[in-house]
Amino acid sequence: MSQRVPNYHIDDTPAATVHPTKAADIPTDFIMSVISMKGGDGKHSYANNSEAQKNINALAKLAVVENVKEVIVKLGFPGYIKVADLGCSSGENTFVATSEIVNTIVESYQQKGQNPPEIDCCLNDLPDNDFNTTFKLLPSFHEKLQLDVKGKCFVSGVPGSFYSRLFPSKSLHFVHSSFSLHWLSKVPDGLEENKTNVYLRSPCPPNVYESYLTQFKNDFSLFLRMRAEETMPNGRMVLTLVGRKALNPLSKDCFQNWSLISYSLLDLVSEGLVKESDVGSFNLPFYNPDENELSEVIENEGSFKINNFETLFGSNIPSS
Ligand SMILES: C[S@@+](CC[C@H](N)C(=O)[O-])C[C@H]1O[C@@H](n2cnc3c(N)ncnc32)[C@H](O)[C@@H]1O
Repeated sequence: MSQRVPNYHIDDTPAATVHPTKAADIPTDFIMSVISMKGGDGKHSYANNSEAQKNINALAKLAVVENVKEVIVKLGFPGYIKVADLGCSSGENTFVATSEIVNTIVESYQQKGQNPPEIDCCLNDLPDNDFNTTFKLLPSFHEKLQLDVKGKCFVSGVPGSFYSRLFPSKSLHFVHSSFSLHWLSKVPDGLEENKTNVYLRSPCPPNVYESYLTQFKNDFSLFLRMRAEETMPNGRMVLTLVGRKALNPLSKDCFQNWSLISYSLLDLVSEGLVKESDVGSFNLPFYNPDENELSEVIENEGSFKINNFETLFGSNIPSS
């Protein structure tokens, strides 16, 4: 999307988040800490369990490169470029897209016979994210950058929710986010009747879909409004998020993976290992919009224009 950005709408798969009370009772900061990926570089860490997300980043590479090139031309090859990666998480994936962006910027300037700009790379995620693991990879990132394109950039961490203001007004030239925007700011209200599912599943009470959609619309609009305030005129965003193919949100392929979690939890209830009431009140702060829902929010919010919209299909795509 350019300020008034391309979107990648992805078909998905799961990871779990647990909280056993009514949505309205749960403080947003609690949700934020639960959503954060597992830090470190151990066997179960996000860093070692994010191959599928890495593959999707690879599929989206072309669009990232094209949009970075275009924004540089539109902005007239400025001497300073500020880039943000929102929902960067921890581990090598963080630097996959960032490297592409920085390499593309530097190469574009070199091709034009100009000195590369100073590049400010801001890595954002929730405050509970393991930024330390990411920052330990910085020396190899800088080294590779020198080898690849002789570029230099200044990397910083920006802890906070992307559903809030994160950067000064009109400061960002290019915004990137991959595999993060399907996470809502909170569990939607009105899911009390959604007792045996952790997400949408057929059959489920009709208001359950409405509750999820409303929360997604509110959150994504807020995200766009915040970024509109922070992005320069003619700045761009490339957003990749988990979406759904089918227009009917209750069609099987929309929630298959989360349904497996629901079934597994119900098995644990029948084995007496988990309380029924806990499963009854457990709902995920997740929504995988279809293409129409996504573009409708962008059009209604009005700050960004969709330049291109692509659906990427990967195998075994997780929904985390
Ligand atoms: C599956 S990871 C994706 C990480 C990385 N972008 C990648 O492609 O591998 C999703 C990330 O989004 C972050 N996230 C979720 N909600 C967020 C929010 N409101 N603000 C900032 N980050 C958020 C999570 O903490 C998590 O690190």
